[in-house]
Amino acid sequence: MNILAIVGSPRPGGNTSYLVDQALQEVAAHGFETEKIMLARYRVNPCLGHEDCASFSACKQDDDAPWILDRFISADAVILGSPVYYYNMTAQMKAFVDRNYFLYKHDISMHCSVA
Ligand SMILES: Cc1cc2nc3c(=O)[nH]c(=O)nc-3n(C[C@H](O)[C@H](O)[C@H](O)COP(=O)(O)O)c2cc1C
Repeated sequence: MNILAIVGSPRPGGNTSYLVDQALQEVAAHGFETEKIMLARYRVNPCLGHEDCASFSACKQDDDAPWILDRFISADAVILGSPVYYYNMTAQMKAFVDRNYFLYKHDISMHCSVA
């Protein structure tokens, strides 16, 4: 079983990263495989809003999101960690969440639970 953590903070040594590390250490101690992705290290562009993206074989954005989304849908469980920025998730995390729309439009769903 593998647990993927996706961190939306731009600060690698920040609070969110620290807290996610604590959670991952705990699950690793129970024998789970873990992986952590700091979104700010990758290029995840905002969704371009093609409502008909179900008709595309690939998202029109050419960036790292498909690689992350592949890991996202194949993980057994996912932790999404984001600081609060103006009462919401960070821009990095929101861009990633929006990019899930391509999967949604292709009826591709995760087989895992999100914590
Ligand atoms: C642009 C910006 C907006 C923020 N907005 C809020 C907010 O609305 N509410 C809040 O409690 N903290 C807010 N904060 C504080 C951060 O959520 C807090 O410092 C957080 O611990 C940072 O996480 P990090 O260390 O993982 O980057 C904001 C910080 C920044 C930089």
